[in-house]
Amino acid sequence: MTSLDDPSLFQLTLNIIMRQATANDLPKLEWYGQYRHYRKLFRRTYEEQLKGRRSMLLADLDGFPVGYIFIQWLANNKRIADGKTRAYLYSFRVMNILQGRGLGTHIMRHTESLLIHQGYSWAIIAVAKENHGALRLYQRLGYHIFADDPGQWSYEDHKGIRRNVNEPCWILEKNLKLGYDI
Ligand SMILES: CC(C)(COP(=O)(O)OP(=O)(O)OC[C@H]1O[C@@H](n2cnc3c(N)ncnc32)[C@H](O)[C@@H]1OP(=O)(O)O)[C@@H](O)C(=O)NCCC(=O)NCCS
Repeated sequence: MTSLDDPSLFQLTLNIIMRQATANDLPKLEWYGQYRHYRKLFRRTYEEQLKGRRSMLLADLDGFPVGYIFIQWLANNKRIADGKTRAYLYSFRVMNILQGRGLGTHIMRHTESLLIHQGYSWAIIAVAKENHGALRLYQRLGYHIFADDPGQWSYEDHKGIRRNVNEPCWILEKNLKLGYDI
């Protein structure tokens, strides 16, 4: 008999598909308001994806992006992304409730194999100096700190208000040709 005092276990397997974002995904990237302030950034990144300058990669659970990472193929700073050998990964996140289960690691590994497939040999990523969890994840995956950055930038939120970000960060890189059988 089921009693209110006995917790019962039900295990669930989730099928996650990695794919590029479409226009329909843009509102869903806001995660029901949590990231609505990035609405214009998501739209601009999508426009850059259409031009082949950036890619928005989603971890899709039944049509909903429960995690994502963006790739910038070419940047003004060629140490970050040069359109040939070095690509910059950013806006990497997994929904809170799914964190710590290996999805972030899967997204990173999938992204790295995509970079290799595109002929790139270096992945670059920035992490806020106080984000020790993400730094640990990147270092476990083979990333090394090679620079730091004041992390000062700004964006216009969904209400048209300019928001300034000050987030000193480490810049890490990984040689994708090491350790991969290609
Ligand atoms: C950073 C982030 C994307 C990582 O995603 P994630 O799905 O939690 O990553 P993983 O589960 O693969 O790895 C995180 C931890 O879970 C552990 N883990 C991995 N697979 C696991 C599994 N199958 N079961 C339990 N734990 C697991 C890892 O060992 C890791 O532990 P650590 O904290 O000791 O390093 C996620 O935490 C996030 O969205 N954070 C907020 C946004 C952010 O900080 N983004 C990074 C900006 S640089």
